[in-house]
Amino acid sequence: MFYITTAIDYTNGAPHIGHAYEKVLADVLARWHRMCGEDVYFLTGVDQHGQKVQQKAEAAGVEPEEYANAVMQKFIALWDRLGLNYDGWAATSDKRHVACVQKILTNLKEKGCLYKKAYKGFYSVRQEQFLTEKERNEDGVFGPEWGEVIELEEENWYFNLSQHIAWLREFITTHPDSVTPEFRRQNLLNAIERAEGVDLCISRPKNRLSWGIPLPFDPDFVTYVWFDALVNYISFAGYLSDGDPTLPEFSKLWPAACEVIGKDILVPAHGVYWYCMLHAMGFSDEEMPKLLVHGWLNIKGEKMSKSLGNIVDPNDLCDAFGAEALRYYLVRDTKTGYDSDYDPERLKMIYNTELANDLGNLCNRSLNMCKSYCGSVVHHGEGDDELSAALRTSLAETEATFASCMNAYNTADALGALNTHIKQCNAYIEQTKPFMMAKDETQTNELHRVLFHLLESCAHIAYLLSCVLPQASARMLEQLQVNAAALTPQTLAWGLLPDGHTVQAPTPVFPRIMSEEEKAKAAERAAKAAAKAARKAAQQG
Ligand code: MSP
Repeated sequence: MFYITTAIDYTNGAPHIGHAYEKVLADVLARWHRMCGEDVYFLTGVDQHGQKVQQKAEAAGVEPEEYANAVMQKFIALWDRLGLNYDGWAATSDKRHVACVQKILTNLKEKGCLYKKAYKGFYSVRQEQFLTEKERNEDGVFGPEWGEVIELEEENWYFNLSQHIAWLREFITTHPDSVTPEFRRQNLLNAIERAEGVDLCISRPKNRLSWGIPLPFDPDFVTYVWFDALVNYISFAGYLSDGDPTLPEFSKLWPAACEVIGKDILVPAHGVYWYCMLHAMGFSDEEMPKLLVHGWLNIKGEKMSKSLGNIVDPNDLCDAFGAEALRYYLVRDTKTGYDSDYDPERLKMIYNTELANDLGNLCNRSLNMCKSYCGSVVHHGEGDDELSAALRTSLAETEATFASCMNAYNTADALGALNTHIKQCNAYIEQTKPFMMAKDETQTNELHRVLFHLLESCAHIAYLLSCVLPQASARMLEQLQVNAAALTPQTLAWGLLPDGHTVQAPTPVFPRIMSEEEKAKAAERAAKAAAKAARKAAQQG
């Protein structure tokens, strides 16, 4: 089973392009593994509890649950638009999750992993955490990232995190595949080296924060949001669910093959708290989830933030360019693990060159030529030639590269390899000139061979692209009359289109994205043509 999850998004604000990137990446990987014939379970969802939601709800004059659910609907609507095909939805106010978190807390307390103590210190309201000396700037103050910092004395419950740090260091050191990419694993190892013997405060007094999961053994407290949120990966996978039929069977899913998270929540949340929580619950080294850590999408090199007013709403991009153009851009222009800059000009450029020009033209020209010269029937043609053999070799190599990149979560290079082959197909048209062959009856056999090579390539490309562009891929396969249901990347072989196969006439799948200027020019041209036609009709009439 390939169990893939993502971070769950806070419901204190609307979804932005960073959230969309992570979810599209996970969806593409989930679809890829499904194509490969694996059983896949894809979980995503929302993180609903915490002070920020409580404050926003108060300001809006509604209950926190109502507020969190309304924001959740925005995420669900966006994921529908972006074509995310998830199997489970994790919402932390869900009763099944609440029950699981409470059982875990009870078990940990019984095991002696939790204790209560009083603590006085500086507290960041924005980050909902106590600050230590480490968090002070060089000039001794707490930086603006912490927002309002107050002094607070409070009794709370603690998780004995420090007792698991030695194990964690050993585990991360001896399990190179625990965190991908490797440099993020090194970041985590460095952070563990610096980790002090500090335990984790896992409660918040109810009089300060009521919107959370009550501690089952101390009703004056609710659970700290991270301790609650991290559990979603197992609660919604059926952990301690007593066979609840609405949840999956835990033993079939766990451990997660891939938890997709951003670099900001590797240390300490996932890399330290989560692994140590699982270890305390009794999970073995072999039962630890694998983390895939992606970078951040920035705007002109800057972090997206409300104060800078540079937050990009993916809905606007779907309106302007279409959901699939956005999907392609997100996983093509970002190298998994690294930061990248969101740039609408690059989105347009990549779409127009790689999809509208390279792939769109290839499919349209190939189908059109097949229609004009062969009545839309594919003939294999006899014999072989060097250029055709080279094209077949290129396709086979491309497919191997595509698969190995996708298996290594490297969507950018997988799509790059596919684009290189598409360009080679277009070059093959220019080299073999099927449009000239069609004028010479002695070259019918060669013409058939060339068109077959082109359309066969189109079919393979359309199939592989289904994990990134499910709708466009389905339309291309429909025009090529290929049923992809029984295909897998492993068994994909030359000869998808049998001799005598009939294809459809093309309808463009990737219309160019035009600038306002281009649109105005196109409208002008269309108006002129219409006027000319009207004049002609009037003269004739
Ligand atoms: N609720 C926590 C995660 C709990 S997981 C048990 C959280 N939420 S978040 O809404 O702030 O972020 C959700 C995911 O989006 C995180 O993985 C985060 O790294 C990612 N991103 C948030 N902003 C981002 C960018 N600008 N770029 C890419 N991903 C970013 O953290």
